Amino acid sequence: MSDWSPDPEALKQLWLILAGTLAPEASVRLEATKGIENAKLQPQFNNYLLHILVNCQTVEPAIRASAGLLMKNDLVKNFKFQQNDLKQHILTELPKGLLDSENMVRNITGNVITSLFMTTGVKEWPNILPNLMELASGAAGTIQSQEGAMSCLAKICEDSSISLDRDYNGERPVNFMIPRFLELCQSPEAKIRMYSLTCLNQFLLLKTQSILLHLDDYMARLYYLTADPDTSVRTKVCTAYANILDARPDKLLANLEFVVYYCITSMKDENDELALEACEFLLGLSTSDISVELIRPMLSNIVSILLEKMVYSEMEVFMIENEDDQDNENVADKEEDIKPQMAKGKEAHKQSSKNAGNSNNENGKVDSDDDYSDDDDDDDDDSDLSFDWNLRKCSAATIDVLATNYPGDVLEVSLPIIKERIAAAEWPVREASILALGAIAEGCLEQASTQLPSLIPFLVDRLKDSETRVRQIACWTLGRYSSWVCTEVLNGGSCANYFVPTFEAIMACALDTKKVVQESACSSLADFIDSSDASLIEQFIEPLLQHFQMYFAKYQRKNLIILYDTVQTFAEKVGDKLKFKTDYIEMLLPPLIKKWELLSDDDKDLWPLLECMSSVAAALGESFAPYAIPVYQRALRILTTCIEQVNLSNDDPNFDAPEKDFIVTSIDLIDGLVQGLTAHSGALIQQFDTAEVSLMKLLIICFDDPTNDIRQSAYALLGDLCIFLLDVIVLPNLHEVMVCIGNEITNRTFASSAACNNAVWALGEISLRVPRDTFKPYLSNFMNVLIPLLISSDVEQTVLENASITIGRFGSLNACDMGIYSPQVLTPWCGFMMYIEENEEKETSFEGMCNIITANPTALNVGDESGRKGLKQLIDCIAIYENPGERLATMFHLLLNGFKSGLGEAGWNSILRELDGYSIESLNVRYGV
Ligand SMILES: *[C@@H]1O[C@H](CO)[C@@H](O)[C@H](O)[C@H]1NC(C)=O
Ligand SMILES: *[C@@H]1O[C@H](CO)[C@@H](O)[C@H](O)[C@H]1NC(C)=O
Ligand SMILES: *[C@@H]1O[C@H](CO)[C@@H](O)[C@H](O)[C@H]1NC(C)=O
Ligand SMILES: *[C@@H]1O[C@H](CO)[C@@H](O)[C@H](O)[C@H]1NC(C)=O
Repeated sequence: MSDWSPDPEALKQLWLILAGTLAPEASVRLEATKGIENAKLQPQFNNYLLHILVNCQTVEPAIRASAGLLMKNDLVKNFKFQQNDLKQHILTELPKGLLDSENMVRNITGNVITSLFMTTGVKEWPNILPNLMELASGAAGTIQSQEGAMSCLAKICEDSSISLDRDYNGERPVNFMIPRFLELCQSPEAKIRMYSLTCLNQFLLLKTQSILLHLDDYMARLYYLTADPDTSVRTKVCTAYANILDARPDKLLANLEFVVYYCITSMKDENDELALEACEFLLGLSTSDISVELIRPMLSNIVSILLEKMVYSEMEVFMIENEDDQDNENVADKEEDIKPQMAKGKEAHKQSSKNAGNSNNENGKVDSDDDYSDDDDDDDDDSDLSFDWNLRKCSAATIDVLATNYPGDVLEVSLPIIKERIAAAEWPVREASILALGAIAEGCLEQASTQLPSLIPFLVDRLKDSETRVRQIACWTLGRYSSWVCTEVLNGGSCANYFVPTFEAIMACALDTKKVVQESACSSLADFIDSSDASLIEQFIEPLLQHFQMYFAKYQRKNLIILYDTVQTFAEKVGDKLKFKTDYIEMLLPPLIKKWELLSDDDKDLWPLLECMSSVAAALGESFAPYAIPVYQRALRILTTCIEQVNLSNDDPNFDAPEKDFIVTSIDLIDGLVQGLTAHSGALIQQFDTAEVSLMKLLIICFDDPTNDIRQSAYALLGDLCIFLLDVIVLPNLHEVMVCIGNEITNRTFASSAACNNAVWALGEISLRVPRDTFKPYLSNFMNVLIPLLISSDVEQTVLENASITIGRFGSLNACDMGIYSPQVLTPWCGFMMYIEENEEKETSFEGMCNIITANPTALNVGDESGRKGLKQLIDCIAIYENPGERLATMFHLLLNGFKSGLGEAGWNSILRELDGYSIESLNVRYGV
C-alpha cells in the first residue's frame, strides 16, 4: 500500500474544503465543516490527510497543519479500526513530515506521532523509535529535523516512559536510547541538549536500572552542564539533580555541597523557571533522608536565599500595588476569581459530628499543611497574579519543612534576619518576613516560644499596617500561631492575656476594605475558633454573631464562601451554647437563610452553604425546627431533581449529567437536620414523602450510584435514620436496603472504602434495633461477606474496625445465631477492637461479643490452638478495657469467672502466663480473677 497514490481530483477537493475551514467568513467555514463531515465517511480519508500533511509542499502550511490535526483527532479514536495495510501506510509515511522545511508541518507531525504512539505502543510501531533516534542523532536531515525528532522523543518519553522500559523480544527501548541521549547532552545545539536531559530525567523518575547503570556517566555530564550558557539546559540540570536525589540520594552525597550551591546560585537567576526548579531541589532536599550533619553547614546559606525569594518580585509588586490602589470591597468578584467548589465529603463531617462532645473539628477548615499549594487560598495567591505554584511559595514551603526537621538551626539562622526586616520601610520586605515567621510556625513553635511574647503583639499591631498585603499576611501568620495563643490561656501561661486582644483585632480586621485582607482574617478567625477551647469562644458568642452579620452584609462571593466555613467551625465549636437562645439564633440564621434564598438551586456556591447549614442544623438541634421545613423542602427538591437528571442523562448521552456534588451536599444537609432534630425529624420527612417520591426511595437509588461520594453520604444518612427513625423510615424498605448494603460490601474497592465503611456502620446500627426474626434471614449472608472483609487487606483500616464493631453488635440481639462464626472471627475481631477508642460503639460491640460467647459456651474450642489463642486475646482485650460501663463490666465479670471455672485453675493460669504484667494485674484488681 505504500505505493498508494491519491486521486488528484479528490485531493484538490479535500484541500479546498480544508482551506474553507480556515476562511474568515463564518458561512464558508460552516459549509466547509459540513464538507469535512462528509469526507470523513470516505474509507481513505486519513490517507488523503496524510498525503496533504507530508507530501503537498506546494500547499499552504496552515492547511497542511489542519489536515494533520484532523488526522490526529480521528486516529486517536479510530486507528485500531483501520485496515491493516492502511495502518502500515500511515506508520511508514508519517515520519517524513519531520523532514519538512516548514516548522508548522514538523511540529504537527511530531504531535501526531506522539499521540499515535500512545495508541500503537512499541509493539505495533517498532520502527518509530529507531527512526526518531536516527533523525535525532543528526546523521540525516537538517538541524530542524533533528530538533523536531528530539522534541517528539521528549514528548514520547514524558507520555510513555513506562512502556519504553518494557521488554520487547528481549530488548528494552530505554537501553538503546539512554546511551544516545547521554551523547546528545554534548550536542552543540542547546535545544538538543535540553531535550536529551528531558528524556533522561523522565527515565530517572522511573528509577529504572537501565539509567541507574549510567548514573555516574550522567552525573559527570551534568557537572559540565551546570555551566551551560543556555538557561533551559541549566533548568533541566536542576530537575536532574532533584530526580537523582529522589532515586539515588547516596550518589549525590559526594557532591552535595556543589549541587546545593549550584541551586542556590540558580535561584538568583532572573529566569523564573530556572529559579523555581532550583528551589524544587532544595524542597526535595529538605524532605529527604539526607543526614542533618551534611545539610547543617549549608543551612544558613539555604535559609538566606529562601528568605530572599519569599519577597514579592518587582513585577508582582507592580501588579499588586496597581490592584491595591483602591478599596475593592464593593467590587463584585469575577467568575474566574472563584475557585471551583468542591463538596467536603461526608466522612470527616460524620466524625466531627459524632464526636460533638469533645468538639474536635475533623473537617477543620484551614488546612495549614497545604498552605502553599496552588489550590490554597489563605496565602497570597491572587486572581490577577495567579502564578499558581511559584518561587515564593516553593521557598516558603521549603523553609516550613526545614523548620520541622531542623527547628533549632532554622530558627537560629532565620530569626535574626526576620527580626531585622520585619519592620523594614519597604513593605514587600516587611511582608516576606512576616510570611517567614508564619512558615516556621509549625516547626519552630517550641524553640520560638521565648520570642513569641514579643512577636505576637507586634503581629497584632501589623493588622493595622498601612499596607494591604502586610495586613493580609499578618492575619495568616497569626492564624498559624493560633494554637499557641489559645494554649497559653488554657495553661494559664504568662501570655494568657494575649488571646482577647488578638481575637478582637482579627475580628475587626475581617471588616477591612480590601477583599484580600477580609479573606485572610476570616480564615484566621476560623483557625482561632478551631484551636481554642469552647469556653474561650463562649465569651465571644455575641460579638462574633454581630461581626458575622456585618461580614454577611459586606462580603462578595469569594469571601462569603470562606465565611460559611468559619460559621460552620463556630457552630461546631459552640453550637450547644446557641441552642434555645432565641436572641442568638435570630442573629445567626436570618443572614444565612437570606443568602440561601438568593442562590438558585443549581448555583455551586450552594455547596459550602449547604455544608454550613448542615453543621448549624446539627448543632442547634430542636432550635432549628422553625427553619427546618423550607430548608428540608429545598434540600429534598435539589436531591429529587438531580436524581431525575442523572436518570435522564443515563438514557440520553446528549443530556448533561448534573454535578454530583449537589446530591452529596443535599444529602449531607438532610443528615444535619436528622442529627439535629433527632426523632422529631420523622414528622418532617414524612410530611413530604409521597407515594411516588420518598426520601428512603431516593436514598435507595443513591445506593446504586457509581459515584463513591454519593454512596458515602447516602449511607451516612441511612445510619442516622436507623438511629432515630428506624421504624417509620427504614423498616418499610428494609429488604432493598439490606440488598444494597450487601452489594456495597461485596463490590468494594479501595476507592470505595469510605462508602463501604458507612454501609457497614449503618448495618451495625440496624442490627441493634431490628427484631431478631426480621434480621435472621439476612444474618448468614452478611457474615459471608463480613468475614472476608475482616481479613482483607485492600481496604482502609477504619473499614476493618467498623466491620469488627458491626460483627460484635450482631450479638446484641442475635447472639444464639452467631455461635458458629465465633471461632473464625474472634481472633481478628480482638485484633482490631483492642486499640479502638472507647466509646459507645466499642461498648455495644463488646456487649454483643460477650452475649455471643455466653450463648454459645461450647463454640470456642479451647482444646485447639486457634480457639485457645482467640480466648487469650479476648481476655487481654477485657483486661485493658479502661472504662467499661456498668452493664459491660458486669458481663466481663461473669464471663471471666466462667472462663476460670471452665478451664480449671491450671488451665486458667497457663493463659495468664501468656499475658503481660499490666493485664494480669488489671484482671486481678478489677475482676478478682
Ligand atoms: C509545537 O510547537 C509548540 C509551540 O511552539 C511547542 O510547544 C510544542 O512542543 C511543539 N510540538 C512538537 C511536537 O514539536
Ligand atoms: C428513570 O427512568 C426510567 C425510564 O427511563 C423510569 O422507568 C424510572 O422510573 C426513572 N427513575 C426515576 C427515579 O426517575
Ligand atoms: C454490585 O454488584 C451487584 C451484583 O454483582 C450489581 O448488581 C450492582 O450493580 C453492583 N453495584 C454497584 C454500585 O456497582
Ligand atoms: C465507623 O464508621 C462511623 C461512620 O462513618 C464513624 O463515625 C466511626 O468513627 C467509625 N468507627 C471506627 C472505629 O472507625
